Amino acid sequence: MTILIDQPDFGIEAGFNKADDVEKEAVLNGGFMMPHTNSFGHTFRDYHVESERQQGVENFYRTNHINQTYDFVKRMREEYGNLDKVEMSIWECCELLNDVVDESDPDLDEPQIEHLLQTAEAIRKDYPDEDWLHLTGLIHDLGKVLLHPSFGGLPQWAVVGDTYPVGCAFDKSIVHHKYFEENPDYHNPAYNTKYGVYSEGCGLNNVMMSWGHDDYMYLVAKENDTTLPSAALFIIRYHSFYALHRSGSYKQLMNGEDVENLKWLEIFNKYDLYSKSKVRIDVEKVKPYYLSLIEKYFPAKLRW
Ligand SMILES: [Fe+2]
Ligand SMILES: [Fe+2]
Repeated sequence: MTILIDQPDFGIEAGFNKADDVEKEAVLNGGFMMPHTNSFGHTFRDYHVESERQQGVENFYRTNHINQTYDFVKRMREEYGNLDKVEMSIWECCELLNDVVDESDPDLDEPQIEHLLQTAEAIRKDYPDEDWLHLTGLIHDLGKVLLHPSFGGLPQWAVVGDTYPVGCAFDKSIVHHKYFEENPDYHNPAYNTKYGVYSEGCGLNNVMMSWGHDDYMYLVAKENDTTLPSAALFIIRYHSFYALHRSGSYKQLMNGEDVENLKWLEIFNKYDLYSKSKVRIDVEKVKPYYLSLIEKYFPAKLRW
């Protein structure tokens, strides 16, 4: 069965859709040879190429911003935190996700497993000794199985797209910010101040993020007692938190450990974005290596 995601997996089109931005990024990133065009020959993240798609992205964020409330996130974390949906290995989940094609991500026309392995293999080339980072590349998007019927078939706005804190004011740097005006939390004095229910330097670990594949995969990894380092869990949990790692917002909530981990997330993000190109991966050839990493850092079967 093929599950079509007709919305993008992130929406940083604001501020990052021009060729010169891509050039700048290429200079910033030492070592990793990044293609300047994606599979379709366009520069990355260029939603203007198809205005129709742009419309879809905007509608997606409207629904997302209206519905991601503090209470909604709390309910989702409780329900999915039970991990009573499925039992399977990490690799089985990769294969399940292989049925999912993100149709509207303008940079991606290949199955998800190719994106996962492209990300992992690109990191492996430049950071051969950081095996935990290779595995993080492989698993970072596995939470997208939330779209699958066996996980409740959640709507796209509750699975993909940029993430951001709930329980405090929505920062202006969040894509399509104006739609938060229709979110009940926007008018709730408990949730609409700079700190809201949080305090300065409380640590992102104590902050509730909008619900999606990032937070879910973090829960799965943590509750199944992964031995991955905290930087890996940080990457998995915040890779769609563009307001933080692209715009530098919400730093007032970070603690010392977050500051350290953010450095790794910034490295990771370049590979997540730029590995979506026509570098075909021989899955069977690299599979034994990734199976050995899975065995090192995860139990044979996980609760999902
Ligand atoms: Fe993702
Ligand atoms: Fe990704």
